[in-house]
Amino acid sequence: MILAANLKCNHTRASFERYAKALDEGLAGGISREDEILVFPPASAFCAGVKNFTQGAQNFYPAVHGSFTGEIGGDMLAEFDVKTVLIGHSERRAILGESAELIREKFSFAAAQGWRIVFCVGEDEAAFAQDRSEDFVAAQLEGIDLKYPSLVLAYEPVWAIGTGRSAQCEQIERMLNFLRAKSPAPLLYGGSVNAENIAKICAIRGCDGVLVGTASWDASSFLELISASSRCRL
Ligand code: PGA
Repeated sequence: MILAANLKCNHTRASFERYAKALDEGLAGGISREDEILVFPPASAFCAGVKNFTQGAQNFYPAVHGSFTGEIGGDMLAEFDVKTVLIGHSERRAILGESAELIREKFSFAAAQGWRIVFCVGEDEAAFAQDRSEDFVAAQLEGIDLKYPSLVLAYEPVWAIGTGRSAQCEQIERMLNFLRAKSPAPLLYGGSVNAENIAKICAIRGCDGVLVGTASWDASSFLELISASSRCRL
């Protein structure tokens, strides 16, 4: 399983140092061989020397460096050996106004660098209510190389993110099947995943892992979720 933590706009450099230490210690020796832990901290908090998990970037600009005020380029990620990136998160699409065109540019740039890409898709509440999830997600996948070898796809319905209302297993399975028909990439589910519902989510056929927001912001709660996920696979 891939267990990924999206810390969003939470954690300072000092608090993430404590988080990374606690996670590293908690994972030492205790993680199942087929599990992989990814953590996306704020870029200002990347830290050196983590051992038992991979750090990724929540955002970047599709350039190595240059005149892009406020942005983070490839050079800045390389300094921390960050080679895993999130692209297409619904908060970047909706709150930061990232267009489909910019998202495609980011994807092409990241693929040209050979980075691992966690690409997020998911329908909004209206599309879900009208049973148009597949059409909505298909549009988000246009122009994206679904055969890119270092791709991970995350199905994250917008209405389930940060709401405490995770999608039902039937909906998750249906959308993962839809994605599986298009791509060989590992498939994650994200949207209000926590230590209580992880067992049900892990049991969904075709689910290769989870992308966790709120329940990952505290290292001990993320560790609890990780061990709940391995318990349910025993
Ligand atoms: P959540 O966030 O777990 O708080 O719903 C998930 C995400 O945004 O990736």
